Amino acid sequence: MKVLVTGGAGFIGSHIVDKLIENNYEVVIVDNLSTGNPKHLNPSATFYQVDITEKDMETVFLIEKPNYVIHQAAQIDIQSSLKDPSFDAKVNILGTINVLEKCIKYNVEKIVYASSAAAYGKPIYLGVDENHEINPISFYGISKHTPEHYIQTFSQLYDLKYTILRYANVYGIRQDPKGEGGVVSIFVDKLLNNESPFIFGDGEQTRDFINVKDIASANLAALNKGHNNTFNISCNTQTTVNELLSMMNQILDKNVRPIYRDPRPGDILHSYLDNQKAKTVLGWNSEIDLYGGLKETIQYYSKQYSLSL
Ligand SMILES: NC(=O)c1ccc[n+]([C@@H]2O[C@H](COP(=O)([O-])OP(=O)(O)OC[C@H]3O[C@@H](n4cnc5c(N)ncnc54)[C@H](O)[C@@H]3O)[C@@H](O)[C@H]2O)c1
Repeated sequence: MKVLVTGGAGFIGSHIVDKLIENNYEVVIVDNLSTGNPKHLNPSATFYQVDITEKDMETVFLIEKPNYVIHQAAQIDIQSSLKDPSFDAKVNILGTINVLEKCIKYNVEKIVYASSAAAYGKPIYLGVDENHEINPISFYGISKHTPEHYIQTFSQLYDLKYTILRYANVYGIRQDPKGEGGVVSIFVDKLLNNESPFIFGDGEQTRDFINVKDIASANLAALNKGHNNTFNISCNTQTTVNELLSMMNQILDKNVRPIYRDPRPGDILHSYLDNQKAKTVLGWNSEIDLYGGLKETIQYYSKQYSLSL
């Protein structure tokens, strides 16, 4: 079975590619390398440096004729979406429509789409389940949610199967400190340099941090299960940003103190996602606990730093 992964040079996409290859899938990657890293490209995959918004996508589908598409490529930065909503919408909405059109034309069986907790906006209740109202408070939240409607309508009109996965805050090895859930990689970077990280707000805001390897296994589970359905992919737990920093200090045996700054527009105070539906229908579970995942992430970055010295 052949799977086309858009954004396969990126943080999450590259882990999905690795897991697909481990499981004997044939993999094709489309990535324009805008934030992706060529070093993260799995050599067993076929790589096309193509932009998802461009006509060249047609050539990739024509040559490769994938059975499945796992769509990860996106403009992922909330703050950039606030500064340039047109570009954000072009990549995330029009780019996804372009992918969907090619899926239909080249008879793709199923698309798995990376959506985000940002679609929900400020939670009205916790844990946020899939029936929670959609009320995004950033353009990124809008541009990640809008394609869900296109996917569902393409599916109804043209019989394309889909699964939508709404990720909580993803962390782990290979994450770029600029990313949406980049707080972990930003903190590691600062702590390894003995610098104080900035915390926007009082640090008591909570997030649901999920390891990238658990996200990759959810994507694989979604290839064959959960057809035409939407799932939260999370750990179902709340961790404050202060707790996160203190865990990281503990792992590194340091006591680096943060600098507190004003909260940023578009930031949500408390969030965690209920993952019961994914457990039941996809037969998936998050397996990596935060402390263990942070330890692995810190070890990875420590090694990168010592290599670059
Ligand atoms: N990181 C998180 O915490 C998080 C949370 C919720 C949802 N998501 C979603 O997960 C997906 C992957 O995010 P990530 O954190 O790995 O980000 P990332 O920036 O590491 O990966 C995105 C990849 O897409 C590529 N890309 C961007 N624009 C493109 C375009 N126009 N054409 C082709 N390729 C393009 C980039 O080069 C990069 O390799 C995104 O859809 C994002 O919205 C991420």
